[in-house]
Amino acid sequence: MRILVCGGAGYIGSHTCLSLAERGHQVVVADSGVNSSARVVPRLRRLAGMPVPVHRVDLRDRGALSVLFATYRFDAVLHFAALKAVGDSCRRPLEYFDNNISGTIVLLQTMQAAGVRRLVFSSSATVYGEPAQVPVREDAALSVMNPYGRTKLVAEQLIGDLCTADTGFRAANLRYFNPVGAHASGLIGEDPCGEPTNLMPYICQVAVGVREKLRVFGGDYPTVDGTGVRDYIHVVDLARAHVDALEYMVREDRSVTVNLGTGRGVSVLELVHAFERASGRRIPYEIVDRRPGDAASVFADPSLAQELLGWRAEFDVDAMCRDAWRWQAMNPEGYRTSVRRTPVMRVRRPKIVAARVADAY
Ligand code: NAD
Ligand code: UD1
Repeated sequence: MRILVCGGAGYIGSHTCLSLAERGHQVVVADSGVNSSARVVPRLRRLAGMPVPVHRVDLRDRGALSVLFATYRFDAVLHFAALKAVGDSCRRPLEYFDNNISGTIVLLQTMQAAGVRRLVFSSSATVYGEPAQVPVREDAALSVMNPYGRTKLVAEQLIGDLCTADTGFRAANLRYFNPVGAHASGLIGEDPCGEPTNLMPYICQVAVGVREKLRVFGGDYPTVDGTGVRDYIHVVDLARAHVDALEYMVREDRSVTVNLGTGRGVSVLELVHAFERASGRRIPYEIVDRRPGDAASVFADPSLAQELLGWRAEFDVDAMCRDAWRWQAMNPEGYRTSVRRTPVMRVRRPKIVAARVADAY
């Protein structure tokens, strides 16, 4: 199949491009560059071992997106393109609604006009809010904790309504738990803007000496060691699940919503110690107050993904730490800050001439 990967220059999207290529699919990337570096592109092409056209397109640019769909005949779309920082979304909710929700609407309209009716959507465990029960099943109550979470829940609902109205439209909503790790080559990985807010990139930056010590948010949770418990999943396992979901939709001609996690809860300190073993570096930390909005323990029941897609996570926490460390050690400054957009992420419309889709890379 020929697949359009929206947001394919980002962390999870770039790994998924490789999984698609490994399974013999052709990949075309559309990415606005709002949170990605052009330096990922040659690495991606090298690892994929095939041409990967990468177009600098913002999904909200209806003209540019239409030209892209007229240029290629896509069999399906994988939609990773979103702003994803929870704290930032609380400060700039309208930017998040516009980028994530408006972008999704324009994408769905363009797909429909072009007759492309298969979509894999990057959702998140954030749609469960603070779950009443763990492990979390797909039929758990949904709720919104912040504007970012709202964009994920609303996008899932928009996609669901479209599937109801257009009976030939198929969608896979993939609810990721906590993606970490990197490709085994060490050439692509997670490259957060500014100070990381998520745990694994923070640990990596402490290990490499960019940050002095980790602040552990809360040591008095009712968990194994008092620190927060999450379901970390290797990004390569996550990437493979997208191809499985895509092939499931085509094979079974059905839509699907599944959790993607390992089903295993890991505490902050367990992750710190696993990372220390994998890297041979000590991670200094101090326990500070809880972070507002954090749940004590969130982990998935991933059995539906196994039952329907035949997918299950293969990498354990040691492998996640080993690969995260390899990426960080090989790229202490990520893809180099000099070529990134600023952390403020000025969400400008890129200069796209409607009649032409520029291969900006
Ligand atoms: P990322 O920021 O690395 O990748 C997103 C990519 O989309 C970036 O390359 C960015 O430049 C691009 N993009 C953003 N808005 C765009 C737009 N309007 N048009 C075109 N391109 C646009 O993030 P990621 O970690 O790879 O996450 C991918 C998806 O998975 C996101 O939708 C995110 O919300 C979701 N998700 C991520 C996590 C996580 O912890 N990383 C967890 C759950 C869900
Ligand atoms: C966070 C977001 C969630 C989003 C997810 C993936 C919040 C409240 N939630 O979830 O919406 O879907 O990221 O992007 O921001 N921790 C520390 N020190 C740190 C960083 C984290 O102790 O410097 C702890 C946290 O308290 C938590 C665990 O590590 O217990 C994981 O944190 P994080 O990586 O931010 O993920 P989530 O909290 O699951």
